[in-house]
Amino acid sequence: LAALGQDTPAVWRVGTEPAFPPFEMKDEATGAFVGFDIELMTAMAEAAGKEAQFIGLPFDGLVPAIQGKSIDAAISGMTITADRALTVDFTRPYFEAGLAIAVRESDSEIKSFEDLTGKRIAVAIGTTGAAKASSVEGATVRQFDNAPLALQELINGNVDAVVNDLPVTLYAINEANLTGAKIVGELVTEEYYGIALPKGSALLDEMNTALGTVIQDGTYAQIYRKWFLS
Ligand code: ARG
Repeated sequence: LAALGQDTPAVWRVGTEPAFPPFEMKDEATGAFVGFDIELMTAMAEAAGKEAQFIGLPFDGLVPAIQGKSIDAAISGMTITADRALTVDFTRPYFEAGLAIAVRESDSEIKSFEDLTGKRIAVAIGTTGAAKASSVEGATVRQFDNAPLALQELINGNVDAVVNDLPVTLYAINEANLTGAKIVGELVTEEYYGIALPKGSALLDEMNTALGTVIQDGTYAQIYRKWFLS
C-alpha cells in the first residue's frame, strides 16, 4: 500500500508561520500565503499529484502541531537541528542559510558576535536565533512573535541587535524598506532548512521524491530566482 501511495493524504495540511519574508508571508490584499517556501511546497505537491493546503501557526507551535498530527508537515524556513530531530523527521535540506547580526546603521560598537556581550538582543520566539542569543553572556534577550517585530524593535532603539536568519534580515533591509539597520560581522552559524513531518510519517518519502523532482526539472531554480535574484 505504501508503494502505491494509498496511505498518504490527497491534501497535505502544511503548517507555516507566515511572517518570515521572503520564505512565507501573507499577501496584504488577498490574505493568501505567498513566498519561496509556499511556491516550493505547492510545486512539490503538484509533482506528487497532491494538493498543499497552508495553515498559519505561531513558529513555536509548529513542532507541537506536527507531533499532535493536526498538520501533516511544516515548511517555515525551519532549520534542521539535532534537538528538533528528536521529535520530528526532516526531509533532505532544501535551503542553506545561517544567522546574522543586525544593528542600527549608526552603531559603530557592535561588529561581531563577541561584541554582543551585555547587550540587549531581540529575537523571534522558538528560533535558532533565540537559542544562539541566549548563549551570550550578560545579554538581555527579548523575544518577539516574529522576525519583523524583532527588527522593528531595533529600529525603535529599544534593543541593540537582532539575531535572525540572514536571508530574512537581508530581504527586510533590501526589499522591504526597513531603513536604519545594517548587518555586521560574519555569519554566526551555518544552517539548513528542511520540511518537518511527524516521526515515521509515510509522507516523508513522497515529499523527498517530490523535492528531488522539482530540483531536477528546474522548478526550484525558477522559484529561487523569483524570490532571491530579482
Ligand atoms: N531558521 C530559524 C529556525 O528554524 C527561524 C525560522 C523562522 N521561521 C518562520 N517562518 N517564522 O529557528
